[in-house]
Amino acid sequence: MTYKACLFDLDGVLVDTAIYHFQAWKNLGSKFGYVLTEEQNEQLKGVSRVESLNRILAWANYSATEEQISAWLIEKNENYLELISTMNPSEILPGVVDFLGQLKKAGYKIALGSASKNAEIILAKTGLTEWFDLIVDGNMVTKSKPDPEVFLKGAMGLGVEPAACVVFEDAQAGIEAAKAGDMRAIGIGEAEMLGQADKVIPTFVGVQASELLQF
Ligand code: G6P
Ligand code: MG
Repeated sequence: MTYKACLFDLDGVLVDTAIYHFQAWKNLGSKFGYVLTEEQNEQLKGVSRVESLNRILAWANYSATEEQISAWLIEKNENYLELISTMNPSEILPGVVDFLGQLKKAGYKIALGSASKNAEIILAKTGLTEWFDLIVDGNMVTKSKPDPEVFLKGAMGLGVEPAACVVFEDAQAGIEAAKAGDMRAIGIGEAEMLGQADKVIPTFVGVQASELLQF
């Protein structure tokens, strides 16, 4: 076994929370008369909460005060927490649990590397917490992806060299973060969107870990 650890992004890899983020940002946008599109929401994947709001305000050409920004970040998150309050294991993406089971059985260490400050809540609600040897989330990092900090902290916490880590990511910023951290990156989604990834798979359905982790 060449690789020793697998590091997973959360949103869009293990669960699909993008729909909830989209809804909450759309609701917030209506405060300043802005209608966020689905294409724009795509560009917010993997991007931290504060950076997402900055981008939306730039698209809307709206210059908000510091007070408005602070209040809106809280408001967006309260709305998002309300939207995810009913999340349950049925929202784990297809094939994920089987794949995690294969990794455990094969002896890989498993960590989460997510920009979200709500990662622990989502893992608990979907019953995924137990799979992880380590959780690194948005509360523990100072630099957002594409900076490799979140994955480097994961590797260090697991006691595994970055070169022995494989990252699973659905966002371009996340793939860049993995590569910047000297790790292998597997994209989940469309190859055209995730050009820098070492491999791309559409979903985890039917994926054999032993084959996928041969590079
Ligand atoms: C993930 C999502 C982003 C989200 C970010 C922060 O990277 O893909 O859409 O903005 O986490 O999430 P949070 O739950 O802290 O607002
Ligand atoms: Mg993601």
